[in-house]
Amino acid sequence: MVDFNFSVNLIFGSEITAVRSDLIPDGYRGNLNHSLVQQQVGCILDVMGEASARAQGLKQQITSAARFRQTEGQTAYILIDREGNDGKGSVLGLLKVGHKKLFLMDHEGKANEMIPNCVLDFYVAESHQRSGLGKRLFQHMLAQENADPRYMAIDRPSIKFLSFLRKHYGLVNNIPQVNNYVIFAGFFKDRPVDCSPTPKKARIVMGKLQYV
Ligand code: ACO
Repeated sequence: MVDFNFSVNLIFGSEITAVRSDLIPDGYRGNLNHSLVQQQVGCILDVMGEASARAQGLKQQITSAARFRQTEGQTAYILIDREGNDGKGSVLGLLKVGHKKLFLMDHEGKANEMIPNCVLDFYVAESHQRSGLGKRLFQHMLAQENADPRYMAIDRPSIKFLSFLRKHYGLVNNIPQVNNYVIFAGFFKDRPVDCSPTPKKARIVMGKLQYV
């Protein structure tokens, strides 16, 4: 778990709280002034983003406060342990999602321009991994986003995350892509209207994306 020198409990009202680009936790009703809350939330995003990158062996972190502030349309779900850090609360996990415009190949190798909801960063503190917290965080995100994991695209999933998706959601067969995103069988089937593909305008010929 990750401890800070301020009270996490004072800024997050629930075990899992959503944060968007304004860095004010969803439903925040505390007395702290907003710029202090933003500074503390920013600190949490920086530290958790760095821990996630380290855990994934990445040179550059995917999540930082500065980039998160500049990007509209992303949500970071923060999981805390209210009892941790002598009652100040500890941070246990981070899950960042958001819509991205992508060209995604279907089973026939046709590229579809789409804007699916994507899993962008996911991390549970090492000391608490494999105890069901990742599932709890992920389930919360699915409910809040009204999302089905089958319709989400995953940015560079780690081996652990692929195993997680197989175990908890039965996602096994991925449809090969030419970018770093992974999607699974069923991604294109009966998609809800709000994230269905635009008319097909591109296809892969000899391994290259061509527009038609
Ligand atoms: N090795 C293999 N599979 C693992 C491991 C591991 N060390 N840890 C978790 N898993 C998978 C397994 O399927 C495991 O089930 P099992 O124990 O029966 O084998 C399952 O996850 C456990 O589920 P939870 O306990 O709910 O998951 P957890 O709390 O561990 O959270 C997470 C999963 C977020 C992937 C966590 O392991 C983690 O932070 N890993 C390091 C960072 C990482 O790889 N993040 C994903 C990057 S990809 C992206 O963000 C788009």
